[in-house]
Amino acid sequence: MNMLDILHHPLWAFCAALLALVVRLQRRGRWDPKACNVRLKGKTAVVTGANTGIGKFIALDFARRGARVILACRSEARGTAALEEIREKSGNSDIHLRLVDLSILDSVREFAKRILEEEKALHILVNNAGVSGLPRQITKDGLDASFATNHLGPFLLTNLLLDLMKRSAPARIVTLSSVNHKKGHVDFAHFHGENLTYYMDKVYNHTKLHNIICTNELARRLRGTGVTANSVHPGIVLTKVLRHYPLMVRCIFNFIGFLFFKSPEEGAVSSIYCAVAEDTEGITGKYFDSDCSLVLPSPLARDPALAAKDFEMCERLTSKL
Ligand SMILES: NC(=O)c1ccc[n+]([C@@H]2O[C@H](COP(=O)([O-])OP(=O)(O)OC[C@H]3O[C@@H](n4cnc5c(N)ncnc54)[C@H](OP(=O)(O)O)[C@@H]3O)[C@@H](O)[C@H]2O)c1
Ligand SMILES: *[C@@H]1O[C@H](CO)[C@@H](O)[C@H](O)[C@H]1NC(C)=O
Ligand SMILES: *[C@@H]1O[C@H](CO)[C@@H](O)[C@H](O)[C@H]1NC(C)=O
Repeated sequence: MNMLDILHHPLWAFCAALLALVVRLQRRGRWDPKACNVRLKGKTAVVTGANTGIGKFIALDFARRGARVILACRSEARGTAALEEIREKSGNSDIHLRLVDLSILDSVREFAKRILEEEKALHILVNNAGVSGLPRQITKDGLDASFATNHLGPFLLTNLLLDLMKRSAPARIVTLSSVNHKKGHVDFAHFHGENLTYYMDKVYNHTKLHNIICTNELARRLRGTGVTANSVHPGIVLTKVLRHYPLMVRCIFNFIGFLFFKSPEEGAVSSIYCAVAEDTEGITGKYFDSDCSLVLPSPLARDPALAAKDFEMCERLTSKL
């Protein structure tokens, strides 16, 4: 028997299916959004990157609960397709598309300005949009494009919407980080694309660390306002997140992912839990794992002195001089 024959053996398929089943059972969340009857009638939510992947299912859940949902997307065509799908599946017509490119600070400012003009309240903000594996690209703001998209754009957006959220309290801010933050480092030169190695998910890992660090600092600053800020890990989820990776990497990810990873719908669960569940009311400055449990992020993500410094640095980088 040669190698290929062994691979064709039905036992392999059986073992793989069994393993997939075990993994599937094991990663079942502790919380089921379908069993949660929290309604969001009269509430307004913004979800960034809501046209695909995890974000689309977060927005769909809010829509089904009766919220007014604003899909913050960069493409009119992709955003409109998601808008129609979410309206149809939820039967909720109070779903709206607003365009924003999170990698461009002026685009974020324009988006926020329109929200502040048009919305009377904002109860939920989900910072979901993100990229991984981008090559080196410096934006017109002088920022590394991955850092701008994953961290500085969402950081500015959150800060610009903060007063509206305070007036709407209780309100919740949920930021999608990743378990990958554990491999990230803090080097303020990174923001400008300096000292970075553009290899696989290395830059992404740094950006996801900053997500947690600044969310924790934000939570400290928001104490007593009724606005909470937390980070979540959605799990390893089969989405288009690797779209900028080599074909071979994507093939392997999709193949393994098909068997073992979460679906985008399952990947949305920890974010929905954090944004709507009664259990999480009042919880702030924490990090939720993909099974909805509270876990400690890496030591760097828990250093309050570093957080204060990072937050100030990000404020400076996103302020209009
Ligand atoms: N998938 C995973 O295994 C995994 C694991 C851990 C954490 N996460 C996090 O989960 C979040 C969602 O990821 P996903 O897996 O659903 O990824 P995805 O399928 O690639 O979706 C990403 C979303 O972000 C949007 N986006 C990207 N760049 C943007 C920009 N400059 N301005 C506005 N929107 C932009 C995309 O819009 P377009 O469609 O227009 O590109 C898309 O809607 C990310 O923050 C990611 O880091 C994912
Ligand atoms: C790059 O990293 C090195 C070593 O980690 C550090 O000494 C240096 O200051 C960094 N560069 C910039 C521009 O900050
Ligand atoms: C990024 O983080 C992931 C998960 O912790 C790790 O497996 C990967 O090796 C890291 N990437 C790099 C290039 O360090």
